[in-house]
Amino acid sequence: RWTAVDDYTLAHLQPSSREYNQHLDYAIKASRDEGLPPISSSPVIAKFLALQCSIGNVKNALEVGTLGGYTSIFIAKLNPDIHITSVEINPKHAEVARQNVTRAGVGDRVEIIVGPGLEVLPQLKRDIEEGRRQPFGFTFIDADKENNWAYFDIAVTMSTSKGCIFVDNIVRSGRLVDEKEFGEVSIKGAREVIEMAGKDNRVEAVAVQTVGEKTYDGFVMAVCK
Ligand code: DHB
Ligand code: MG
Repeated sequence: RWTAVDDYTLAHLQPSSREYNQHLDYAIKASRDEGLPPISSSPVIAKFLALQCSIGNVKNALEVGTLGGYTSIFIAKLNPDIHITSVEINPKHAEVARQNVTRAGVGDRVEIIVGPGLEVLPQLKRDIEEGRRQPFGFTFIDADKENNWAYFDIAVTMSTSKGCIFVDNIVRSGRLVDEKEFGEVSIKGAREVIEMAGKDNRVEAVAVQTVGEKTYDGFVMAVCK
């Protein structure tokens, strides 16, 4: 049912441009052919994120975890003025993503930096402090889940006022609240970011549960003060 509902709503609400959908479909196919894991955002979530950038009139966005570039393409296509800085630890994923964003015609606005988030994000922070980069109005954290809080913590310091930070995959079919799972890295990372964000006076945050073609999961949305 969840997938059927996504299929129905997307058939009506997905961007009407065929060219746009072709690039997204190509990115999915190329990523699969290159052996990347099939864990990119669903079209519904990617479009939701892209629309968040639109309503925030975001000019600079940060993504942690490029994978094959699917979410970046979605955001960049829907927001013609946006520049996305996307961090990817895996050089193969980054290479596939570069090809995908270039093919989609957004290669000039999606900057893919290869390296571990824990090294790259502090460099980006220095760039902002020293005036080489602008703060981010939107951040999407979708990488190694055990470092969710570390990424979030530094993302807050790189955000504009009212900048939004999203953290993917925090519900995990409800395992979020299953005591047996509390030691599992992704659940631990999800609980940590929720509990720390709740105590953090720099942000106001909420967690949203989602269903759809990627089953039952959810995201944290935080707005920086
Ligand atoms: C996984 C990671 C993701 O970012 C996602 O959206 C879904 C699944 C995973 O590692 O299993
Ligand atoms: Mg994810």
